[in-house]
Amino acid sequence: MRQSSLVVVANRLPLDDNVAPDGACEWRRSPGGLASALHAILEGTTATWVGWGGGIGAAPPLPDIGTLRLRPVALSEDELRGYYEGFANTTLWPLYHDAVEQPVFDRGWWETYRTVNRRFAEAAAEVAEPGAAVWVQDYHLQLVPQMIRELRPDVLIGFFMHVPFPPPELFMQLPRRLELLGGMLGADLVGFQREQAAHNVAQLAGKMLGARGADDAIIYDGRVVRTGAFPVSIDVTEMEALSARPYVLNQARQLKHDLGQHKKVLLSVDRLDYTKGIEHRLTAYSELLRDGRIKVRDTVMVQVAVPSRERVESYRGLKDRIEREVGRINGEYGRVGEPAIHYLNQPFDRADLAALYRTADVMVVTPLRDGMNLVAKEYVAARADDTGALVLSEFAGAAAELQDAFQVNPHDLDGLKKTLLDALDATPADLRRRMQAMRAHITENDIHAWARAYLSALDHTGQLARRLP
Ligand code: UDP
Ligand code: G6P
Repeated sequence: MRQSSLVVVANRLPLDDNVAPDGACEWRRSPGGLASALHAILEGTTATWVGWGGGIGAAPPLPDIGTLRLRPVALSEDELRGYYEGFANTTLWPLYHDAVEQPVFDRGWWETYRTVNRRFAEAAAEVAEPGAAVWVQDYHLQLVPQMIRELRPDVLIGFFMHVPFPPPELFMQLPRRLELLGGMLGADLVGFQREQAAHNVAQLAGKMLGARGADDAIIYDGRVVRTGAFPVSIDVTEMEALSARPYVLNQARQLKHDLGQHKKVLLSVDRLDYTKGIEHRLTAYSELLRDGRIKVRDTVMVQVAVPSRERVESYRGLKDRIEREVGRINGEYGRVGEPAIHYLNQPFDRADLAALYRTADVMVVTPLRDGMNLVAKEYVAARADDTGALVLSEFAGAAAELQDAFQVNPHDLDGLKKTLLDALDATPADLRRRMQAMRAHITENDIHAWARAYLSALDHTGQLARRLP
């Protein structure tokens, strides 16, 4: 097994093992922001990416991506249920997103979470060359930093949390809070999307582990653990280039034609997840139709809701509710050949997404809580002609950076309705000013700047000069 000087460990590999209708295995791009972000920085490097391939049991042989090596970690059916669907996505995910859905605590899931974390740690320890940097990602693998430290004290260990880290009073609810906190603090550098998260961790470490520290460093277990905010981003150049490609422009023209040449298009693109605020936005849209403030003859909404975590109960319930509501809205306000909402419960590839971004007059991103939300940044990158409006929840990490979006509290229904109307009615000059300011920000703070900032801070912790291999 070849060893690498940079090893990334994430629950997901960039490719997802998908069973085609004829039963054959085919690989497709994994869902979500983590896979988008890491793929953009690791493509073309000689790093190794350790992760789960999306299937059950031993993974079929994995194609490397050019020079990037993929090292699969297999999960059994029971492990998938206990570790991924259970502890990661029914305990930690809702708790870390402000408990917008009730977290469930199950002792059996915890045991499986620990077992699977150890497997990831062992795989990473095996492929890391002496003195390598091992960069662990997200809430699925919170115990891995400490486990790697025990297995390979020679390597530099980074951890990055893509989702919010909750306020102490929520985190304190976790029955295994000490292990989870200590596991993460096994890293040399713990990165978050927002400063507030580092503050929360410093407070918790002081209170629960007796550690000393501030928002940028914690003294724990005889070591200094650096912490800080590193807001994740997108490959702006890639999205700009993609959205200018003839295929994408043709697709966008076709979409515009199909949706109604003269109509204003509202677009939302989310994994079908209760954190994304899909129900809140449907309610706002439906009330605007009811109040006669918008009409189906001149406005249409497109909701892409990509299937996600489909075996988890709360996700199944959400899907049913959303589909009922879309049906109700179309039944009540649609006309023959003219639905109020186009609902698409399927994944789109990047070119087709770019075409959708080019078509949308208003991009509606209204999560109740979100670590970052890359879709918001992708929309800005795709609007190189400085048109289009971004409606953005204050509770998305991206709101701290995209100050020129039409920001909104999605819980405030009247505020949400008013903001949607403001965005629909904004003047071209106002939209241009906002788009230019937002594009300037993301161009300077793109995904490559993110990786450089994180990895050089990690290097700094070990006083080592490493670069992406
Ligand atoms: N995405 C995609 N196809 C789709 C919908 C989304 O490739 O049909 C990508 C999208 O381009 C973005 C990521 O999935 O890069 C979603 O990231 P985001 O941070 O917005 O949310 P997450 O799903 O990670 O919660
Ligand atoms: C969020 C998480 C990622 C995860 C993604 C998609 O972005 O932070 O870790 O990969 O959602 O979710 P999934 O459960 O399909 O991996």
